Amino acid sequence: MHDAPGTQCHRLSNRVMTRGDTQEARVAELEAELARVRAGAEAQSRQLERYAADLRETFKAERVQRARLQDSYMATVRALSNAVEARDAYTGKHAERVAAYGLAIARTMGSRLAEDPTIEFGFLLHDVGKVAVPDAILYKPAALTDEERALMSRHPVIGAQILRGIEFLGEAKAVVRHHHERWDGAGYPDGLVADEIPLAARVFAVADTLDALTTDRPYRDACSLIYAREVINAASGSQFDPVVVHAFLSIPNDVLDRIRLETGTTS
Ligand SMILES: [Fe+2]
Repeated sequence: MHDAPGTQCHRLSNRVMTRGDTQEARVAELEAELARVRAGAEAQSRQLERYAADLRETFKAERVQRARLQDSYMATVRALSNAVEARDAYTGKHAERVAAYGLAIARTMGSRLAEDPTIEFGFLLHDVGKVAVPDAILYKPAALTDEERALMSRHPVIGAQILRGIEFLGEAKAVVRHHHERWDGAGYPDGLVADEIPLAARVFAVADTLDALTTDRPYRDACSLIYAREVINAASGSQFDPVVVHAFLSIPNDVLDRIRLETGTTS
């Protein structure tokens, strides 16, 4: 039994229409699904943007907080350094000048030291151990006896002990302990040689001598910058690290003069 051709066409047309309807419904479903996914993605993207904005705000607030904390550290260190220097009328702003010279040398060397704030703390606090040295020795106009010299030379160790428990000082403590070491190992307190001496302390040694030579002392007038350069150059490889001396010698006079002017020494 066969259907009439008209009936077959009708069924076929019904089937095609049904398939067409199903496909349209499927397309509509997919479009709705796509719209849902898109809306979800947009909501997620907005959420992420809010998170990013929150993070940026938190980061900014933390940076401000860190800067404030760093300022407080610096103010505390300066107060301590000033307290030490207040005892000695001759050195004036010695610690500040040495810190500025030291940073200028570190910058010239391209060293990371210049970026490390704890190094400046060390430069400023290098002689904090002198609080334990009696006035009679500290201000003695004549040469020190062996016993007095031994007492005086304990100040780096005493200084490091004083600062031992202060976490934020970091590398500063190494500067305080080793600021009288010499490149050839003849320094104190540990007789470290060459690279054994922390770099910050090697930089400090040059800066300290520069300031000692170019400021008035009870027993002599200040030397010229040119003379100070000669003296430091002559001690390169014995007292001082040659790399540090080389960096120091390449700093123009006007940079050093500006530091002296800003820290109260024009002699
Ligand atoms: Fe010292």
